Amino acid sequence: MPILTIEGNGPLDGNVVISGAKNAALPCLTACILSAEPVTLLNVPQVEDIKTMCTLLRELGMVVEEDGDRVYVDGGPISSHSTRYDLVKAMRASILALGPMLARLGRAEISLPGGCAIGSRPVDFHIAALKKLGAEITLEHGNIEASATKLYGADIYFDKVSVTGTENLMMAATLAAGTTIIRNAAQEPEIIDLASLLRAMGAKIDGDGTSTINIHGVESLHGATHSVIPDRIETGTYVCAAAITAGHLRIERCLPNHLSRFLEQMHRAGLEFEVGSDFIEVLPHKGLSANDVQTQPHPGFPTDMQAQYMAVMTQAEGRTLITESIFENRFMHAVELKRMGADIRIDGHTALVTGPSLLSGTDVQATDLRASASLVLAGLVADGQTIIHDIQHLSRGYDRLDEKLVLAGARIERSAI
Ligand code: EPZ
Repeated sequence: MPILTIEGNGPLDGNVVISGAKNAALPCLTACILSAEPVTLLNVPQVEDIKTMCTLLRELGMVVEEDGDRVYVDGGPISSHSTRYDLVKAMRASILALGPMLARLGRAEISLPGGCAIGSRPVDFHIAALKKLGAEITLEHGNIEASATKLYGADIYFDKVSVTGTENLMMAATLAAGTTIIRNAAQEPEIIDLASLLRAMGAKIDGDGTSTINIHGVESLHGATHSVIPDRIETGTYVCAAAITAGHLRIERCLPNHLSRFLEQMHRAGLEFEVGSDFIEVLPHKGLSANDVQTQPHPGFPTDMQAQYMAVMTQAEGRTLITESIFENRFMHAVELKRMGADIRIDGHTALVTGPSLLSGTDVQATDLRASASLVLAGLVADGQTIIHDIQHLSRGYDRLDEKLVLAGARIERSAI
């Protein structure tokens, strides 16, 4: 079992370079299903979820060549329309193949993604919306069986903002006959990045980044080359690493305007930083103050930053109320932070953090991707040694997090027991 051993070692000091966004690269990879011509993706992060998605595409018969942060995908030879249960179990984002497979092949068989540590993670919005485009979809024996001789444009309203739901529909609609309108669409930067790739492939899309997206179907899509946007959540995680250690960190090759609300909240908590078009320089601080946040769909405070922010607030003066509005069970990290000495009281969707508290190193359990990052941050400032178990969760979504932190002065060792 892989573990990380972290020695609290004072303020970070150095530079980190941000990798491509996992949550942009994943839909960009499944978008390659839509074309019989090759697509080259650049700035793809080297994380487990990307490897899993590349395996899924290969098993559909596609050619996929990974070379560092460059991935070449040729959808020409696609020959299968079904995906293996264990791939979908390993990565819920496999659902992003459903829309493109329906649009390109007219068929798709994908296991119903299960829940995960942070919630039940249903896909009912995806299914209901694809049915409105004319797909026949049944759920049998834990599988989504979908077929459509042709997809037709429709006016789709999402009752709740769904990132991958919006992405699935956008991709399916590119080859549907007529116009599709997606209302109450997700507005995340990853949506805009996917739309940019689809436009480069010949799709007719506008409104991405707003709550209403219009897609005018075309006969087919051609190949393209696309560079994936930097990972805004990885960026925010390093801002938190600098904040929790009162360090000095220059974060490069990022897009600060992709995490404005998060940066605004960190500034309110007393963090000082300089921002350029592609960097954030976090400056040492003399103490942080409590500052309440509530997670919201973009452009609100990202739910994917909630766990990392909670770790930082354990070191801030005062009481911080954190409200998790997106997922039903996204406080698993709080239990482990409390074992390290944090003062956190959970009440349903809210967590009350009282700081500052002295954290002491101990054995802790990683449960999901962002909870793992939260425990790494706590380990950076804890007294003594923190051992994080099951850090495969971390490797799913962070590109060499431990290596990048060591270069900025952290004392972290990766091993297995
Ligand atoms: C995406 O998940 C991200 N994953 C998540 O990042 C992120 O936390 C989430 O969006 C919210 O920003 C990827 O992009 C691969 P949703 P997604 O559909 O699309 C409910 C990470 O750490 N819902 O926006 O699965 C759902 O339960 C991951 O990188 C339905 O009820 O999330 C949730 O309460 C974790 N029915 C809310 O909507 C549906 O059909 C938002 O979920 C779909 C969603």
